[in-house]
Amino acid sequence: MASIKQIGNKKACVIGGTGFVASMLIKQLLEKGYAVNTTVRDPDSPKKISHLVTLQSLGELNLFRADLTVEEDFDAPIAGCELVFQLATPVNFASQDPENDMIKPAIKGVSNVLKACARAKEVKRVILTSSAAAVTINELKGTGHVMDETNWSDGYPASKVLAEKAAWKFAEENDIDLITVIPALTIGPSLTPDIPSSVGLAMSVITGNDFLINALKGMQFLSGSLSITHVEDICRAHIFLAEKESASGRYICCAHNTSVPELAKFLNKRYPQYKVPTEFDDCPSKAKLIISSEKLIKEGFSFKHGIAETFDQTVEYFKTKGALKN
Ligand SMILES: NC(=O)c1ccc[n+]([C@@H]2O[C@H](COP(=O)([O-])OP(=O)(O)OC[C@H]3O[C@@H](n4cnc5c(N)ncnc54)[C@H](OP(=O)(O)O)[C@@H]3O)[C@@H](O)[C@H]2O)c1
Repeated sequence: MASIKQIGNKKACVIGGTGFVASMLIKQLLEKGYAVNTTVRDPDSPKKISHLVTLQSLGELNLFRADLTVEEDFDAPIAGCELVFQLATPVNFASQDPENDMIKPAIKGVSNVLKACARAKEVKRVILTSSAAAVTINELKGTGHVMDETNWSDGYPASKVLAEKAAWKFAEENDIDLITVIPALTIGPSLTPDIPSSVGLAMSVITGNDFLINALKGMQFLSGSLSITHVEDICRAHIFLAEKESASGRYICCAHNTSVPELAKFLNKRYPQYKVPTEFDDCPSKAKLIISSEKLIKEGFSFKHGIAETFDQTVEYFKTKGALKN
């Protein structure tokens, strides 16, 4: 592969552009002067692409139709791009058949995108968005653990673990300069027409959605912490790592480590009007681990958004969406 130093005309491809994180990433890339090709599954659906059409006023943004399961879909959007960001992932948590609905398409998708990158002469670096779910799911006892890039979730067939491992294998065999970004639960205002599921999940203690509160507790139970980051910082980290020549390997991107009860106490104080519950007898009050972003910070990255500001912005966003009262 060519060196990342040679990036000249700054053209990037974002796979899965309609998504929460991807659309914010496209906005930041356009603001930095990149021309962007992005792939969407359904370019003929005005509702699904309306936020991308709005972004076209910021710079050159071209939409291509592509499905993760179709290998040849990716050659045209990747052509001429030095950077490829792969964020698309099948999301269907209610599936009765996760093997066929999530795991297989996730692995096939990563492999199809990387094969197209290997064929394309101009690609200098590929940035794959993995997930904290690929790192932290564990059966550790006690508290005070630190999880870093050397950890992989074990004993759990998470599609993100298998997809990331498949990506590393393909990248090594085909000399692809691959970086993986490992975000914690991502929240903040979204450009998408609908409220993203991760934002609804984190906001559940404020909105009082019991189903989602239980899911949030389940997340802490499985992974050992509730770890949260602002979407703008997640996207800034993607671009930072894409541009930083010395970057290599996996990078956790997590600004805040907490627990459901600890977060609820904080939100109860900050927004008394929403009467956030503070009793969660069935949920450990302390996180048993932190997910460490030390490697990313040592590389020179700094987080912009504190936890209070992150929630202030998300609360305001929910009000504009009619999902919260004043
Ligand atoms: N949000 C979080 O808290 C969080 C945390 C950790 C990691 N991540 C990772 O970050 C990435 C983006 O997450 P997100 O929250 O922004 O997700 P999202 O809003 O649900 O977006 C998922 C994207 O994947 C696309 N997609 C799904 N199946 C596809 C297929 N078969 N072919 C092509 N595209 C397909 C969707 O396209 P359509 O519009 O066509 O459905 C959508 O653009 C994912 O890899 C996710 O695992 C997210």
